[in-house]
Amino acid sequence: MCGIVGYAGNAQAAPILLDGLSKLEYRGYDSAGVCLYSEGTLKVAKAKGRLMNLSNMIDGGNAVSGTIGIGHTRWATHGAPSDVNSHPHMADGGKIVVVHNGIIENYLQLKERLIKAGKSFQSETDTEVVANLVEFYYEDSHDFLTAVRQAISRIEGSYALGLLCVDQPDTLIAVKKDSPLIFGFGSDGNFIASDVPAILSYTREVSYLNDGDMVVFTKNSYRFYNAAGDEIEKTPEHITWEIDAAEKGGYEHFMLKEINEQPKALRDTISPRIKGGEVVLDDIKLTADYLKGLKRIYVVACGSAYYVGCVGKYILEKTCRIPVEPILASEFRYANPILGEDTLVLIISQSGETADTKSALMEAKAQGSRTLAIVNVVGSAIAKAADDVIYTWAGPEIAVATTKAYSTQLSVIYLLAMYIARQLGTVEQEEYAQVLRALEELPEQVMKILAPENIEQIQYYASRCFSHKDAFFIGRNVDSAVGLEGSLKLKEIAYVHSEAYAAGELKHGPISLIEDGTLVVALATVPELFDKTMSNIKEVRARGANVLALTLDCFDEEIHKTVERAMLVPQTHLLLQPSLTVVPLQIFSYYVAVMRGCDVDKPRNLAKSVTVE
Ligand code: AGP
Repeated sequence: MCGIVGYAGNAQAAPILLDGLSKLEYRGYDSAGVCLYSEGTLKVAKAKGRLMNLSNMIDGGNAVSGTIGIGHTRWATHGAPSDVNSHPHMADGGKIVVVHNGIIENYLQLKERLIKAGKSFQSETDTEVVANLVEFYYEDSHDFLTAVRQAISRIEGSYALGLLCVDQPDTLIAVKKDSPLIFGFGSDGNFIASDVPAILSYTREVSYLNDGDMVVFTKNSYRFYNAAGDEIEKTPEHITWEIDAAEKGGYEHFMLKEINEQPKALRDTISPRIKGGEVVLDDIKLTADYLKGLKRIYVVACGSAYYVGCVGKYILEKTCRIPVEPILASEFRYANPILGEDTLVLIISQSGETADTKSALMEAKAQGSRTLAIVNVVGSAIAKAADDVIYTWAGPEIAVATTKAYSTQLSVIYLLAMYIARQLGTVEQEEYAQVLRALEELPEQVMKILAPENIEQIQYYASRCFSHKDAFFIGRNVDSAVGLEGSLKLKEIAYVHSEAYAAGELKHGPISLIEDGTLVVALATVPELFDKTMSNIKEVRARGANVLALTLDCFDEEIHKTVERAMLVPQTHLLLQPSLTVVPLQIFSYYVAVMRGCDVDKPRNLAKSVTVE
């Protein structure tokens, strides 16, 4: 969701900005633009559509000279995707140019006042208000920094902003609240960006800005300020991962690469946390006394992360005997949840920047609940705000559709469940040891599912199913929760209308939708419920459904008595089975999307990091 890059240095800025924006494409966008200080003026170039349109417009950056500039990829919120609504936005008088990620909530009131003060507007965006507001104050003080501060004090909402002023051609100002922004310390210039990959080719020394932080920088100087306006020190953090981790590395799509990275991601997340036959979560401070006093756990998240919570409910309740309620972050604040000291709020987020999830976290804290976040991005807003953090070590996830983040989040749920259950004494030693052993074997088992012959078979099934317009995922117990994720994958990347149901619910309504040729993906991996799910499979087959089953390899023979096509996964400990079940579903959706000619890594209308509510 909206990407920002800014540069002040000795090199030509435009190619650096275009390169940086290309590394932020994964965030989702519908237009792109740059602004450079060039030959005494601020030159803006912007275009609707792919970054390539902008790049062609400015000849890969060669058509605009200048060594300081800002760039932006826009994901439309206020006003349709169009050239005029694209960022950067220039103020009416041409003095100030702005790029913005976030939403200015009081932009209509501000716009009205600015119009009365004589400013005119070209776009429908909330961002143009910022440009005009800064310029309005600048006309008075003729001081860039003062004008930005004054404007910020009037703005309500979320923002990461990059600003240029025509009268201060060597200076870039950036400020953030509730939208991500990092500062990059370069040897040949300095940077701002929404995320590390944008500037990783130029510097590994970065600092994550906190809410309210502002940075004023030139090619060889920088000053940081906090929300109160006091100058502060920022120590650079060294980024250790390679740019390859954020590049395709020979795979056709990031999604396929990330699916294949799951064994490593799982190993990196699990191994350091099992020592001497015990789960060790050094990073968190949940005491036995605190856990004993817990009345409930809310799992709060969005999208796939929420579906991890839906699986987590089964795992945590079964092992810890505490009621667990997964709740969508966008609903949480308005659902009047029962918060307080006896409620633990477990927050799950890959990006650590999802606006709804972050707001829910703040609400939980405000109402006295302890918050524990499972996050992939180190230093992200959620990681910083939560009382405790457990990181998933999945590495950068670029494809909009999550795969390795989902898997590692789930693995942390198992670790956490064992950690809590151990302290509460709700798990037998034998089962505890079995789960830990199974966790350690998980990466290897995922690797088996990713064997070329398996992938080819799933690819074949995708070729038989890709033309379906609708799909239904059914399953019982944890399978019904994994089905939610399988269904989301199919709709988000392959644009197939897809629903997921607990198989037992079919007869209470959804079965009326089954007709000749309807695709039903039936999950039957829970041994004690296998026969019951088989009955549901027979029911939909009797109504003409085209069934693709997913079951344990030990049921190979049994399942083929009823269905022709079945994806098989190895058996693991019952609790951990969802970690294996989800993998063929990811692969299946991936190939359906490829066969339907979809833009797999950047599905329409979606953003990787949803930083607005
Ligand atoms: C998953 O494939 C989605 N793209 C989406 O549902 C995602 O899981 C959701 O937006 C939450 O993101 P987060 O984990 O970064 O908070």
